[in-house]
Amino acid sequence: MTSSAAPFNILDALAAWARRFEKTLDSMLTPEADVPPRLAEAMRYAVLDGGKRIRPFIVTRGCELCGGTFEQAAPAAVALECVHAFSLVHDDLPAMDNDDLRRGRPTCHKAFGEAIAILAGDGLLALAFEILATRIPDPARAVQAVAELARGTGWAGMIAGQTNDMLGEGQTPDLALTRQIHLQKTARLFEAAGRLGAICAGAHTPLGDALADYGRHLGRAFQIADDLLDVTGTADQMGKAVAKDADAGKQTYPAAVGVTASREAAQEAALSSVRALDVFGPSADDLRALARFVVERRK
Ligand code: IPE
Ligand code: IPE
Ligand code: MG
Ligand code: MG
Ligand code: MG
Repeated sequence: MTSSAAPFNILDALAAWARRFEKTLDSMLTPEADVPPRLAEAMRYAVLDGGKRIRPFIVTRGCELCGGTFEQAAPAAVALECVHAFSLVHDDLPAMDNDDLRRGRPTCHKAFGEAIAILAGDGLLALAFEILATRIPDPARAVQAVAELARGTGWAGMIAGQTNDMLGEGQTPDLALTRQIHLQKTARLFEAAGRLGAICAGAHTPLGDALADYGRHLGRAFQIADDLLDVTGTADQMGKAVAKDADAGKQTYPAAVGVTASREAAQEAALSSVRALDVFGPSADDLRALARFVVERRK
């Protein structure tokens, strides 16, 4: 007998979820009266209508796997996407990676000018924490969420990684340094995504640890794949410039160990992420599929 159900496709699942999430993003990014319209426009430009939304998907599905709901996860999912968007706006600035294209459109500073782009990034960072503090109803969970996102973002998290990424430019390619940069600039926010899901559901620590492990390993796989796509991908598919890292003298996996060993390392990290989900059984199959997508993606 053949089943009438269509086979599961993670990209379709992600897209369907993202349509719902976009409305939540839009409503939480509706400015109050005193917000300068130009600032609001730049912040909304950086966040809305684009992006794969992988991090907030992990927050939401993590929360659901711990018995919570989309609504319970929403403030943390939006906050994390705001921090991610802030990191991209600043990453693209002339003083950093100097990129003109992001998500298939002009980067924020190309569209709004450097000063407004810097301020839009600052605004998104602050808004993320305002959302956590004011929209998570349970005060204890709100405090935990603020601490988790601050750690993932801050001076030992994404911003640390961005610092080491900049300081590593032009240095001899070094695998240990590259691993450290990947762990901080990308995997820390993915790790926070997993743990935030558990926090929003009020789950016990072991489930939070499992989701955090999943996120951290997935984040490592994701950044290795990103480094590889800078070498093997196209700007059309990626929606951003490619073949830039080598010219900038960036610390990347392909520079440190070559393309083949980088592919193996990405697969290994994805496998570790999948292993971390054992405690959830088949209900986490979509997060397992997401891990496969992350290393096989073309965008
Ligand atoms: C880009 O992240 C920055 C990296 C950590 C490589 P994404 O590839 O998730 O960017 P969007 O949100 O889909 O545009
Ligand atoms: C990830 O590194 C940057 C962030 C943490 C924002 P990249 O600089 O490689 O990201 P892309 O390639 O510009 O998206
Ligand atoms: Mg960068
Ligand atoms: Mg960049
Ligand atoms: Mg890159």
